Amino acid sequence: MSEPNQASTPAARVGVPKETADGERRVALVPKVIERLRSRGFEVIVEQGAGIEALIPDEAYTESGATIGDPWSADVVVKVNPPSSEEIGKLSSGSTLIGFLSPLTNAETISGLRSAGVTGFAMESIPRISRAQSMDALSSQANVGGYKAVLLAATAATRFFPMLTTAAGTVKPATALVLGVGVAGLQALATAKRLGARTTGYDVRPEVAEQVRSLGAQWLDLGIEAAGEGGYARELSEDEKAEQQKRLSEAISGFDVVITTALVPGRPAPKLVSADAVRGMRAGSVIVDMAGETGGNCELTEPGETVVKHDVTIASPLNLPATMPEHSSELYARNVQALLELMLDSEGAFAPDFSDEILAKSCVTSEAKDEGNS
Ligand code: NAI
Repeated sequence: MSEPNQASTPAARVGVPKETADGERRVALVPKVIERLRSRGFEVIVEQGAGIEALIPDEAYTESGATIGDPWSADVVVKVNPPSSEEIGKLSSGSTLIGFLSPLTNAETISGLRSAGVTGFAMESIPRISRAQSMDALSSQANVGGYKAVLLAATAATRFFPMLTTAAGTVKPATALVLGVGVAGLQALATAKRLGARTTGYDVRPEVAEQVRSLGAQWLDLGIEAAGEGGYARELSEDEKAEQQKRLSEAISGFDVVITTALVPGRPAPKLVSADAVRGMRAGSVIVDMAGETGGNCELTEPGETVVKHDVTIASPLNLPATMPEHSSELYARNVQALLELMLDSEGAFAPDFSDEILAKSCVTSEAKDEGNS
């Protein structure tokens, strides 16, 4: 264990509540990361049972130097999911909250935090720049999601993924298509390949083609490009959307497995797979739609459900990272740790510098930012 900072006043007291969202099994900090934070002068208070769903007992937290107690009175509260209104009520004015806060779609939470005098940092608003890679929780969690989506597809499939040569004959490898090749999509391609499928990737950002090929997958070029700002795609025009659906419908019929992960931040999920496209797929094929949270990339998706339409299984799991709470929590905790460390000044005091692009962009309660700058 690293030596805790012996300073009498901690840089900040960090609270870790138990997550309360339905089905959530992750926790915002894990013991290994707490050891590191203590060595940087943070004191950590963990709510009783906060890690239990991630199989981290309270004793593991106390061994790492944390105390078990009330996390809500801390200077900085770190969470995974956005706080409920009840949880906002428990935060002290002048405190800081770090977590996924859904700032683009959850205005109520942000205004609640503002009225409570809480400075909110949204993990999803951390800019995707090289210096912020260690804090990029969307990416760490999307990696888990992309991996698990393929495993779900393999479980639901009526056919093998790998090619098999057996005494009873040869089985052809499955063909897997990934639509939207950001972080989740790249991991889905890599995982499907490891399971032996023949993989193909599609995206509207042309620069992705090289990354797709580097994973041994084919690049599906539909001739529609929509690179936007900050490494994200822009939303397609109505004409482009119709054209994309039409061209994809023709392409999709040749695939056994389709994983969809297309996202434009703050917008409803683009509908890439039409009902007609599903109708054109072979019976027994599988679609795993990762974009259910924002409505789904497939017209027939029922977010949170697994349905069978036209003999095609369409699964739309909503919180895949929660199904692998051990690694999801560990990766998320490292992201939070990197962000907390960025909030320390050169003397090791907790003093977020809002002229730093990462902190300015991830702070979603602008009054606090303005005060910090004054
Ligand atoms: P990302 O931003 O890295 O990737 C999204 C990709 O979609 C980008 O490459 C973008 O160019 C592409 N895209 C946007 N519009 C498109 C269009 N019209 N056609 C084709 N491609 C298009 O996002 P990330 O982090 O990989 O997440 C992807 C999706 O997976 C998001 O919807 C996210 O909410 C979801 N997700 C779901 C999880 C679950 O448990 N269901 C877990 C983690 C992520």
